Amino acid sequence: MKALVLTREKSPLEYIDRPDPVANAAEGEVIVHLRHAALNRRDYYITKGMYPGVEPPVILGSDGAGLTEGGREVIINPSMNWGPDPRAQQRKFAIIGMPSDGTFAEQIIVDKAQLFDKPSHLSSAEAAALPLAGLTAYRALMSKCQVRRGERVLVTGAGGGVAQFATQFARAAGAEVWVTSSSDSKIQQAVSLGANGGANYTKDGWAKSLKADAEAFDVIIDSAGGDGFKDLVSLAAPAARICFYGGTRGKINGLSPQIIFWKQLTIMGSTMGTADEFEQMLRFVREQGIHPQIDRVVPLADGAAAVESMGTSSQFGKIVLEV
Ligand SMILES: NC(=O)c1ccc[n+]([C@@H]2O[C@H](COP(=O)([O-])OP(=O)(O)OC[C@H]3O[C@@H](n4cnc5c(N)ncnc54)[C@H](OP(=O)(O)O)[C@@H]3O)[C@@H](O)[C@H]2O)c1
Repeated sequence: MKALVLTREKSPLEYIDRPDPVANAAEGEVIVHLRHAALNRRDYYITKGMYPGVEPPVILGSDGAGLTEGGREVIINPSMNWGPDPRAQQRKFAIIGMPSDGTFAEQIIVDKAQLFDKPSHLSSAEAAALPLAGLTAYRALMSKCQVRRGERVLVTGAGGGVAQFATQFARAAGAEVWVTSSSDSKIQQAVSLGANGGANYTKDGWAKSLKADAEAFDVIIDSAGGDGFKDLVSLAAPAARICFYGGTRGKINGLSPQIIFWKQLTIMGSTMGTADEFEQMLRFVREQGIHPQIDRVVPLADGAAAVESMGTSSQFGKIVLEV
């Protein structure tokens, strides 16, 4: 079969032949013939050597939708071996697509517990765009921050794959949603998904202008971290919950403990989610009729360039590979 393989550390993916996988049915393994796969920032980080435990050769890709050999239309939950405690994953937790082979291929072997019916209102490309980012956004917003109807939510980096789901899920949950982005046009795209408005974080005084527009936020969902995080704390309402699932901008400097304890803030970290949360997320997406935002669909053969393009973050929503 054809696959996009990381053959060496810190190198672009190569579109090459790999042996067809052979499933051990007695062990619960199933072969999925992939129709679409989707990119995550994780894939980009792995190709740049910015991810722990990189072990080439490996087929990358955590998101996929396709058909089992019995003809069932499925999407794959990339969150494996979470373990018994819903509060945190156990040590042998793993994500599909490194160290085990992933979805950037014509076929993949997965445990049948990772398979869920494709939501019927989604195209195959949309379904492939949902799993990792949808799960991450759902746990951060719903399980961790427990967003409530009428609350004011800030989602940073609106163009991000997870961020677009956080925006749509918060809106569907009845919250008022605001965003930040490096691009005015991405803020407009977020508005078309239901956001009230936003601020461009590359412009001086963005936090002040957001405060003037929206006052303060009950829930803040962030993946950037870095020095900008202290602005988020200043935008938080008393008793706000701030949850971050990524650290694209690195370490957080200059954070004042006084503002955190005086405002009674809760600051949380979140990573992906449990199988139960995956199922809840799918139900929510079905009931609310949510459609993942797809930036573009490109052939699997062109996937290496698509992964490389994530370095500029020019996309809005998910980049999908057609297998
Ligand atoms: N813990 C987990 O389970 C988990 C799951 C998924 C992702 N992540 C992490 O979360 C981060 C985002 O992942 P993704 O797949 O959604 O990535 P992505 O689709 O590549 O999006 C990244 C976005 O980050 C935004 N950004 C960059 N600098 C920013 C800043 N200073 N302030 C606010 N936003 C900024 C940009 O938004 P604009 O283009 O709008 O400016 C960019 O589009 C990555 O670090 C990833 O590793 C973690």
